[in-house]
Amino acid sequence: MGRKILLEKTGIENINTYEVYRREGGYSAVEKALKKMTPEEVVEEVKKSGLRGRGGAGFPAGMKWSFIAKPEGVPRYLLCNADESEPGTFKDRFLMEKIPHLLIEGMILSSYALGCNTSYIYIRGEYMWILRILEKALEEARQNGWLGKNILKSGYDLEIYVSPGAGAYICGEETALIESLEGKRGNPRMKPPFPAVKGLWQSPTVVNNVETISSVVSIVNNGGEQYASIGLGKSTGTKLISACGNIRKPGVYEIELGISVEEFLYSDEYCGGINNGKRLKACIPGGSSVPILPHYLVTKTANGEQRLMTYESLADGGFATGSMLGSGGFIVFDEDQCIVRNTWNFSRFYHHESCGQCSPCREGTGWMDKVLKRIEYGKGNMHDIDLLVSISKNIEGNTICPLGDAAAWPVASAIRHFREEFEWHIKEPVKCLETNYGLVKETELEA
Ligand SMILES: Cc1cc2nc3c(=O)[nH]c(=O)nc-3n(C[C@H](O)[C@H](O)[C@H](O)COP(=O)(O)O)c2cc1C
Repeated sequence: MGRKILLEKTGIENINTYEVYRREGGYSAVEKALKKMTPEEVVEEVKKSGLRGRGGAGFPAGMKWSFIAKPEGVPRYLLCNADESEPGTFKDRFLMEKIPHLLIEGMILSSYALGCNTSYIYIRGEYMWILRILEKALEEARQNGWLGKNILKSGYDLEIYVSPGAGAYICGEETALIESLEGKRGNPRMKPPFPAVKGLWQSPTVVNNVETISSVVSIVNNGGEQYASIGLGKSTGTKLISACGNIRKPGVYEIELGISVEEFLYSDEYCGGINNGKRLKACIPGGSSVPILPHYLVTKTANGEQRLMTYESLADGGFATGSMLGSGGFIVFDEDQCIVRNTWNFSRFYHHESCGQCSPCREGTGWMDKVLKRIEYGKGNMHDIDLLVSISKNIEGNTICPLGDAAAWPVASAIRHFREEFEWHIKEPVKCLETNYGLVKETELEA
């Protein structure tokens, strides 16, 4: 059995309550930090741990923390990103629901390290029941002296608030999240200035993912070096993976970074293999935004090396033959799944969620949606495939925020690896539609 850090205690009955969490050693990291460590020492442990941001980009957390500006008399803020709207990703929800005090403990530690006296958890609006769980847990923490003024008589004050989004994926992008929290439309900001210098209310701000912040508890309890001893190379510690699609055991798993993709996909400890005795067709290892891998690149890299569950190995081969660990949304497709339909489905999502600020993304996501729809519905022509590639290239890297890239990569990678399937949809539309989804009605295409 792989080592667990975040989910170690989730099997304990009533661990979601304050009493049980505390009985099981909860909040001991806060006691340790506030009584025995300076904020700088906490930052140092996080640096030593090698912890990388679990929201998608994998930026080293300790380094991000050390960038925060510290102008005299200006407040600093920690924002926990609990927006979790990436298709295929549902690990933060699991953690917050099962063991909410772990996140709150991590928030206290991280806020202390950064010198924040007010922090926020920005939660996806659809997670209303989890917002209630967090508010109850925050109240328990307050009642028991872990929040408020002069916590543990250390002289440190902290308040944490939960704030819901209103259903926009873009509000997971850190600067859009900040805008939204300020009560404005969630449009991403131009950078620089970066949030570490001018974030919430123009004050220095750090935005971290739920899983990143929750991981700080173990780092403070056991030391950064111990955390760094788990994992492989620069992919230290454990990672939550939400696995879904055509696998026998969908769910949220905690893995030690460095296990092989093969083990994750086929062992009974994790996904348990492909469902219904089917063959693997493709896999998206890090949420809908990252490139899709065809079956022959899932467990092995293009060089024939074993593909590992690490930031580096999943990216091996660059965009030609690799993908990304991203947010850990592991989506598996069996041989019966239609890549064109899936690509169109994602494109529809990105078109709907584009904030519309940047023309390449606003227009390009709409064009990709439209062209993919006509290919899927048997009305495409061969030029459409290169048209899609061209649109994706014009979006990539040409937008204020990475939503444009997130929309472009799934299309570009699907065509790179499954061009024949796109061609087949165009050449044999009726056969293709009959095979997969039945014949489409003209009216649907017009819609
Ligand atoms: C369109 C878009 C949506 C995003 N959604 C999320 C999200 O739901 N949760 C998250 O933690 N990060 C999300 N991110 C990444 C954040 O911008 C940011 O990098 C992250 O919260 C930083 O936390 P970390 O360093 O702990 O990973 C998103 C990025 C983009 C471009």
